[in-house]
Amino acid sequence: MDVRKAVIPAAGLGTRFLPATKAVPKEMLPIVDTPAIQFVVEEAVRAGITDVLIVTGRGKGPIEDHFDRSVELEVFLEEKGKFDELKQVVAISDMAGIHYIRQKEAAGLGHAVSLARDHVNGEPFAVLLGDDLIHPSVPLLEEMIGVSEEREASVIAAMKVPPEDISLYGCITPEVLDEQLSRVVRVVEKPPVAEAASNLAAIGRYVFTPDIFDAIARTEPGHGGEIQLTDAINIVAQETSVYAYSFESGRYDVGNRLDYLKAMVTFALERDDVGPGLRSWLAELAKRERLV
Ligand code: UTP
Repeated sequence: MDVRKAVIPAAGLGTRFLPATKAVPKEMLPIVDTPAIQFVVEEAVRAGITDVLIVTGRGKGPIEDHFDRSVELEVFLEEKGKFDELKQVVAISDMAGIHYIRQKEAAGLGHAVSLARDHVNGEPFAVLLGDDLIHPSVPLLEEMIGVSEEREASVIAAMKVPPEDISLYGCITPEVLDEQLSRVVRVVEKPPVAEAASNLAAIGRYVFTPDIFDAIARTEPGHGGEIQLTDAINIVAQETSVYAYSFESGRYDVGNRLDYLKAMVTFALERDDVGPGLRSWLAELAKRERLV
């Protein structure tokens, strides 16, 4: 069955990015002028997704406003003859069928995904974390959907991280099948570095078969007292098969301050408007600060 639905959990509290995230959802933090979550929706659409369910929570209203029509703004832009800007804001609300469900408390990523059960309605589906940015040149989700359809199984994205960082991620014990593909033998949420079985981390892109919902329903609160998606994936990996699809670069965790800055600079350098100016300023800065 084609994967046409995606779930974007965006109900987390964003405590790593306070104080900005006290009143602004971290998924709305801009990369130059575009909220991170818009890139995530565009990535889903490029991979063939036509139906997106965003899991929101308290204070996440700006996400809904962003993907909604803004008639007042449209009339204003039309009157001022700002037609490029008008096209841009209308296109945002036309990207895909976008739906919302509210997670009443941040009870964990697994809990957030479980709320999508009725909406997904027995189909395979993708999950994209709303604060994880994948560079548009990396066709990760398309490729994962291909593997999931071929193997008729769930597929999670994986990336090698520095060994000391593995305790920030789900840690995968892989049975390597080829350069990019492994079978997940086991996956453990945020293990202490000394107990980590590998430095292969689960990254915020997933393609699930519907059996993930039964697994989440059987998942007890885990790390941090939250219902962890990783623990549910581990159940499916033990009972049937889950695959890990590895990629190497082009991922930014917008909830992490340094990664956010890297995303901003990388994306800005590639733009025609601000790119050239930023490039020459960075070159001057590097000289002045003796960076190179
Ligand atoms: P994170 O752990 O990165 O998000 O969850 P967080 O809790 O918002 O961030 P910090 O660690 O406090 O800074 C990964 C994704 O899962 C969503 C988040 O919105 C984020 O996109 N999430 C997490 C939920 O939707 N619900 C939850 O209960 C937890």
